[in-house]
Amino acid sequence: MSKVNSKKTPPPATPQTVQTARRQPNWKLIATALTGLVIAAFLALSYWPKSASVLAAASAKPEHGEALYQQYCVACHGAKGVGEAGWQTRERGAPALDSTGHAWHHGDAQLVSMILDKPVPDSKMPAWNGILSRDDALDLLAYIKTLWTPYIRDNCQGARHMQCMTMR
Ligand code: HEC
Repeated sequence: MSKVNSKKTPPPATPQTVQTARRQPNWKLIATALTGLVIAAFLALSYWPKSASVLAAASAKPEHGEALYQQYCVACHGAKGVGEAGWQTRERGAPALDSTGHAWHHGDAQLVSMILDKPVPDSKMPAWNGILSRDDALDLLAYIKTLWTPYIRDNCQGARHMQCMTMR
């Protein structure tokens, strides 16, 4: 009985060994393709936010943004966007919008929607939609960017903020 069975059973290692041998060249291809994808994703993340902010900045008027800031924002966010006194420790204090805050961690589109539709739903900051237009918000954004260090403005906004976490 056992003799017959052992003759019929194929050597267990053979099929696996053949499959593994056939797959090996494919793993190289997959590894190369994945490396390419990672590099492409990295390049996309590095360049996309910059081109987006250049687009937004092209027609925006920072001087108009500054006038709007003095009228609607300075009471909470302070002169030149330094933030409400002690905002880092104060619960729900109005944060700095200059380089010492983290407004620059957000991309242009997100900052504009934060200004028009509130940063968070239960914020004491009003939604400016209806009072300010989208162009006004872009002008405000252009002014807020003048409060950032040139290095942060050019290299660190939005998706790229992680590479700048140790500097202000
Ligand atoms: C009544 C106070 C108040 C006014 C006025 C106000 N804000 Fe705010 N703002 C806040 C608070 C508070 C937050 C933080 C979110 C929270 O916890 O509610 C905030 C958050 C923000 C953020 C997000 C910052 C970040 O680091 O994520 C931006 C951008 C912003 N405000 C822009 C503006 C602009 C532009 C104006 C004027 C048009 C303005 N704010 C007027 C209180 C205010």
